[in-house]
Amino acid sequence: MATREEVERLVRQVVGEVLAATGGAAAVAAEPGRRAPLVAANWKMNLLAADVRAWPAKLEPPAGVELVVCPPLVWLPLLREALGPAARAALGAQNVHPAPRGAFTGEHSCAMLRDAGASWVIVGHSERRALFGETDAFVAEKLRAALAGGLRVILCVGERLAERDGGATFRVLRGQLTAALADLGFPAPDPATLVVAYEPVWAIGTGRHATAEQAQEAAAFLRERLAERFDWRWALAARILYGGSVTPASAAELAAQPDIDGFLVGGASLDPAAFSSIAAATARAKERR
Ligand code: PGA
Repeated sequence: MATREEVERLVRQVVGEVLAATGGAAAVAAEPGRRAPLVAANWKMNLLAADVRAWPAKLEPPAGVELVVCPPLVWLPLLREALGPAARAALGAQNVHPAPRGAFTGEHSCAMLRDAGASWVIVGHSERRALFGETDAFVAEKLRAALAGGLRVILCVGERLAERDGGATFRVLRGQLTAALADLGFPAPDPATLVVAYEPVWAIGTGRHATAEQAQEAAAFLRERLAERFDWRWALAARILYGGSVTPASAAELAAQPDIDGFLVGGASLDPAAFSSIAAATARAKERR
């Protein structure tokens, strides 16, 4: 398999040729390291209808950053309406059931999520793994069903504190990623439709985010595993996010890391101004590169 450097060199060469031939616009998205940044909000089980109606008014999407908002499912249609036709952010769900229909009390299918306005879904979040008993196998089933069902996926992986302290971070990340991708057949999914979020469990909702070095190291490791699973061209086109206590104050340094392409934001996303400033910091960091 070609190395990361070889693929980057080759793609740069092809991009240069296409840019020369087209006068510029055509191929920016294909350039390694020029992945479109993505910042996603995970509201978890927070906010009521009045908050949902008010939230979009204070959203200021920066240019060049893809925004996704994942509200509680019951608020999807309301948020879609409140965001308005100019759709300044895409909508996502926090969960999905892999079956197309049937006796699954309390669950929702891919088609239902799409009908309600979602184009994204979060899969494998540590709260679902830890609090609702979701296994690696079930995460894999959801991932496959979501992609097949026309949804884009934010796949979360991350180690617990004891695992990091015990030196098991990479083993855990490799295990979760490999298991989640196990059910995917060929051809490989479009890399625009599968985003991986590195979310160390010890950083989620704790106010203690990973350092830029820790987040970069984990993101680079995950990108290498994606290259092993698909190839380097695929891995260099795919977005890898960081999640865990991201705030406007921590976003700039984290977003400046080369393998971090954006964020999955929990607590800070409840405030549209804070979420917007995280997105703006991401846009600035990526512009500078
Ligand atoms: P947090 O949550 O930003 O509140 O730490 C992140 C997440 O769980 O996705």
